[in-house]
Amino acid sequence: MELAHNPLPRKAYTDIAWFHHEQEQLMKSAWVFAGVEGDFAAPGDYRAVPSGAFTLIVLRDTDGDLKAFHNVCRHRGAQLLEGQGNAGAVLVCPYHRWTYDLNGALRGAPNQVSCFPSLDRERLGLKPAAVGRFQNLVFVNPDPAASFDTWIGPIKDCAWPHDPAWPHLQENAPLTYDMKCDWKVFAENAIDGYHLAYLHENTLGGPVPNENVWERHGDHMVWYALDEPGAHQSMTAKTERDYSMAGATMIPGADQTGYGGVYYLFPTTFVTCNPYSFSVASLAAQGPGHTHLVVRLWGLEQQERFSPEHVHGYDSETGMITSDKWTVPATQAGDFQTEDVWICERIQRGLNSPAFELGPLAQGPGAEDPIRWFHDIMQARLGHDHFSRKHDHAPDSLLVARSDG
Ligand code: FES
Ligand SMILES: [Fe+2]
Repeated sequence: MELAHNPLPRKAYTDIAWFHHEQEQLMKSAWVFAGVEGDFAAPGDYRAVPSGAFTLIVLRDTDGDLKAFHNVCRHRGAQLLEGQGNAGAVLVCPYHRWTYDLNGALRGAPNQVSCFPSLDRERLGLKPAAVGRFQNLVFVNPDPAASFDTWIGPIKDCAWPHDPAWPHLQENAPLTYDMKCDWKVFAENAIDGYHLAYLHENTLGGPVPNENVWERHGDHMVWYALDEPGAHQSMTAKTERDYSMAGATMIPGADQTGYGGVYYLFPTTFVTCNPYSFSVASLAAQGPGHTHLVVRLWGLEQQERFSPEHVHGYDSETGMITSDKWTVPATQAGDFQTEDVWICERIQRGLNSPAFELGPLAQGPGAEDPIRWFHDIMQARLGHDHFSRKHDHAPDSLLVARSDG
């Protein structure tokens, strides 16, 4: 059944009760980016992956299979692993050293005979999560019964670009942005084709709404530039000019047209690519109005200017990038990502105002239609009751007045 369109209410971005509801209804069964195949090259290689308010473990086991578990010890619940690395042959909890095989089975507990005379090891293995792989990207879902094919299926019809396992690609150090905005504010901005020519006039240089398009594929969306004649392009004419003026070398074989410039994999993953680079950005909600954004970037060579300490706002104490450390206005940093963080934090401050109400959204798949789609998808996931036509958006009279004028 087609649901009537309702925008997300203001409280969706500001309210702790909404945040918990969203964690329950969406994040507990959401596919999130866990890494690339190369991160899990050897048995024992693992990553602890933020998933909603908790973490999951993805690792390569001794049989060479990728496995995913909840990152929670079955004794008293300590988090087993942090970050990434190689766990060796077993996972050992740092608290009382309960030990698990790489397939999640509980191997044993210290002082087992005296302290746990009837320990049922069969029942106390790590709780499984689901893992899925596509184009050398690895995804994980807290729900072990979640179907990866159902989730990734709609995007499989799209032309897909090069990926991180292509020859010659090298990875730069990842960037982590600590942002004072809700994850949905960032997601909505990322799928907004209307702002490109204005906020990013000096960095991306357009395109205007009818020169770009978002295409919807299930809950996912793919962005193309249309500002050059011919096929859909993965980058704008200006970006292409900037790369060629800088003498950049194309990734061999990545120069064909027709693939997207941004693949938004709902809810938290953005794959951004063009013939010169490939990146994956993932959002991790820390609370209402607080989000971490982790960006991993590959290119033909590692570039000094992309390393974290050269990014505007780098905080050497935390290793993260934050607006607190900006030393020049964001619009003078010459970097579209900084411009996006800047505007998202301003949107969040607008949302914090009791006077906020959402105005009319620009129509068109290269304008703000994708934000409408996003709200529809969220409504389908979270339940219609949480969306109110009465609150937090422009009254119909305002919409009519504006479209007449
Ligand atoms: S909480 Fe892990 S061994 Fe006790
Ligand atoms: Fe932007």
